[in-house]
Amino acid sequence: MMPTLRIPVLASVAAALVLLCAAALAAAQEQNPLAAPKSHIQVGFPAELYSWVIPPDNPQSPAKVALGRKLFFDDSLSADGTVSCDQCHSPTKGFTDQLPTSMGIHKAFGQRNAPTVLNALFNTLQFWDGRAPTLERQTEGPILNPVEMGNKNLEDVVAKVKSIAEYQQPFQQVFDGLITLVNIEKAIAAYERTQIAFDTPFDHFMAGDQNAISAQAKHGWDLFNGQGRCMTCHGWNPTQPLFTDNRFHNIGVSAHKSDFVPLARKALALIQQGGGGMQQLDQLAIQTDMSGLGRFLVTKQPHDIGAFRTMGLRNLLVTEPYFHDGSQQTLWDVIDHYNKGGVQNPYLDGGLLPLGLSESDEDDLVAFLATLTSPEYADAAKEELDHQQTRAKTDRPQRDTAAAFGKTGLGPGFKGPFGDIGPAQNQENPALLGGD
Ligand code: HEC
Ligand code: HEC
Repeated sequence: MMPTLRIPVLASVAAALVLLCAAALAAAQEQNPLAAPKSHIQVGFPAELYSWVIPPDNPQSPAKVALGRKLFFDDSLSADGTVSCDQCHSPTKGFTDQLPTSMGIHKAFGQRNAPTVLNALFNTLQFWDGRAPTLERQTEGPILNPVEMGNKNLEDVVAKVKSIAEYQQPFQQVFDGLITLVNIEKAIAAYERTQIAFDTPFDHFMAGDQNAISAQAKHGWDLFNGQGRCMTCHGWNPTQPLFTDNRFHNIGVSAHKSDFVPLARKALALIQQGGGGMQQLDQLAIQTDMSGLGRFLVTKQPHDIGAFRTMGLRNLLVTEPYFHDGSQQTLWDVIDHYNKGGVQNPYLDGGLLPLGLSESDEDDLVAFLATLTSPEYADAAKEELDHQQTRAKTDRPQRDTAAAFGKTGLGPGFKGPFGDIGPAQNQENPALLGGD
């Protein structure tokens, strides 16, 4: 008799402890100085752009931001009370989880890498494929996704927030007591809009301090704008200093593992059945092999097959690993990918060409990217840079020097692919997709 009685008791004590620990951790994260709203007094802060991106129907206020901060760190927003937004967007990890792909409820893994929330207010669309139009609407994705926060519907979440005593007063103060989905979303988005990150050595350099970055990093900046061709997609200017064109390009990341045409057909059939609403797209992107189709899931345009949003490049040394599937461990691996001209596939962006960067050029580009770290992450970034540098000395899975110097693909008379060719791609005319 004893064991049958005691095991459930022990199990529920253990379960309660797990919940308590999770709650205590989330609370500690919430109070972490890195979670605090950021000052606008930062060199390089784009004040004009900021004024454009704050939506008129959701103005910032300190009380709203405090409420959103509480919601962001609250495990109650998940189905079983164990997962908050910060599990995958932790302030101490540059508002990411530093995992290749994210782990959500019941320790299930999705297909995509968690991008940072830092500076996400400046994105014109949210998610790697831009399927959410605003930060407000973005929150519905993880809340409902079965492997992220796992709720059955949005009403359950609203009911749960309503049932928590601590939320009564702040919702009274900010939203006249209306605890609704729209107001929960507005508060979380308002908190996210306080997470701005500039004031980097590079910003000081552009503001005129010639000594803010090293000679090596200056050479890297030249390569970024010249031989490396990076600025064609990751452009910088004083009004748009985010290093992104906010557009979608196939640079070949998912061509490593996908044969796009059959996958696209499968996705089109499912979308036709399921209606293609945001929740269905979210599940295809997070939970299936169709994830690698990227922007195509949203637009159904063949030219968007395998295309993902150009990510900003700030604070890369606290948001590793890289790319939409977290497939690259170091910045050297990322640059090796570009140096060989990406991964060949029929939808590869025309801007990707072998770059002919030498080893020291690659080191200089990394030195430049390292200058894009905001001061609060300087120590963590330095440690990560050392770690990546050590790793890059021996472990360079993407390096293909012959392809980078055009010896495999672009020599006279050579018509075939260059660089990493990935699996054989079905060369069927993409215009016929979905036409049967
Ligand atoms: C289980 C991990 C997980 C949880 C929990 C989670 N996210 Fe995310 N988040 C991700 C992943 C993965 C992506 C990228 C998905 C994609 O693009 O398809 C993402 C994307 C985002 C983006 C878009 C950023 C960009 O640059 O496109 C924002 C903003 C964001 N999450 C905020 C939140 C908020 C707010 C919550 C809580 C309501 C939350 N996340 C909960 C993993 C998570
Ligand atoms: C044709 C446009 C294009 C060019 C040129 C380009 N990028 Fe990218 N970059 C992208 C896109 C799109 C992604 C996201 C791709 C993905 O994950 O599938 C990306 C992702 C990245 C990432 C990873 C960001 C993250 O958070 O995971 C880094 C780092 C990066 N690029 C650096 C560079 C550098 C350095 C160069 C020049 C050598 C360069 N890029 C050239 C479009 C481009």
